[in-house]
Amino acid sequence: MQYKDYSSQQLFEERDALRQKFEEIKSMGLKLNMARGVPSPDQLSLSLSMLDILYREADCTAEDGTDCRNYGVMDGIPECKRLMADMLGVTPDMVMIGGNSSLNMMFDTISCFMNKPVVPGCPAWGLVPDRKFLCPVPGYDRHFGVTEYFDFEMIPVPMDKNGPIMDVVEELVKDPAVKGMWCVPKYSNPSGISYSDEVVRRIAALKPAAKDFRVMWDNAYCIHDLGDETDELLNIFEECEKTGNIDLPIEFCSTSKITFPGSGVAAMAASENNMRIIKNKYKFQTIGYDKLNMLRHVRFFGDFEGMKAHMKKHADVLRPRFEIVVNKLDENLKDYGIVSFNRPRGGYFVCVDVMDGTAKRVVELCKEAGVNLTGAGATYPYGKDPRDSNIRIAPSFPSLEDLSKAMDVFCVCARLAAVEKLTA
Ligand SMILES: Cc1ncc(COP(=O)(O)O)c(C=O)c1O
Repeated sequence: MQYKDYSSQQLFEERDALRQKFEEIKSMGLKLNMARGVPSPDQLSLSLSMLDILYREADCTAEDGTDCRNYGVMDGIPECKRLMADMLGVTPDMVMIGGNSSLNMMFDTISCFMNKPVVPGCPAWGLVPDRKFLCPVPGYDRHFGVTEYFDFEMIPVPMDKNGPIMDVVEELVKDPAVKGMWCVPKYSNPSGISYSDEVVRRIAALKPAAKDFRVMWDNAYCIHDLGDETDELLNIFEECEKTGNIDLPIEFCSTSKITFPGSGVAAMAASENNMRIIKNKYKFQTIGYDKLNMLRHVRFFGDFEGMKAHMKKHADVLRPRFEIVVNKLDENLKDYGIVSFNRPRGGYFVCVDVMDGTAKRVVELCKEAGVNLTGAGATYPYGKDPRDSNIRIAPSFPSLEDLSKAMDVFCVCARLAAVEKLTA
């Protein structure tokens, strides 16, 4: 029976029973973490043999003869550009390889556009005092952190199962102060949805008032499927080619969740016009990124097929964890009518909406019981979830046993927060 159909006496009884259960859980002294989407030790071990591959092969020479032990090659060695281009579905000439972090490249890109005009004749973004950025919600907290740092007013755009609501986007881009939009188009962080063909086509067809409007196409989870049934995403550059909008998107990815977060290879892809501006910054910023790491990655995978095969091993580790999360939510919460959640086919998160007005309380109760979750509100600009309902669950890191315990705690806390509110 759903909580909304409980009598008030039933609700009070339920609250007292849950409080007792909660005290029992607290006394177990748990210390569990479902806060951030980091690979588990088992996943990290999958790439361990990459670490000494160059030493074993006693060869650090790239295919064009570059000695990767030395300075130089600002945009990456050719075989690594090819690998990352295949991953993104673009041509290698559109790709620049960076350091270990795609978030870093996104920050750099916005920083560059703050200082230099994106399009000749338009002022650099930093000279636009009322600059704004579109933020599909729920979204990735670190994206919002970047645009907050650069003093953009962040405009939340609601999403549904197909991606951002494009009627809203099309209306908002009529404002010339709106300079860009964050997108995680595949297995979005945190909602797990992938943008539909229609949404991708409508993004590609945007005609923003700002000539220098850019779409930050963060394809962080482009090959992060959990099983054989996968989401298919249209290629943004192909769609933009058709609409004459090739300068609109700037795409990012990395191997952080393929090999080692913090020690992977990051890449971006962009049109010739965008790349010219961006490389003109990088050429002052660095003599060249870590070519040994690029070479290690290429030798480890061989080619994109090798990379995809490697991702299947990750999926085997991740799939049972996602199953635990959705099964527990199904079994323990659905009947009470106080949650809705996604069943993602890839990515790193399960996005749960608990009863309106209780997300903060659920996170607080979980913390008290020894389970650490991403802060409520983190998935919204300025940390403000207007309904106080969204919670991001990251199932990748804990062991299966710990995850199972953590989800039991979560379910008790979600119920307790709901009946506390209903009895208040
Ligand atoms: C959507 C998204 N983009 C970027 C990142 C960070 O990527 P990187 O490690 O390449 O900086 C993450 C990490 O969780 C993410 O979820």
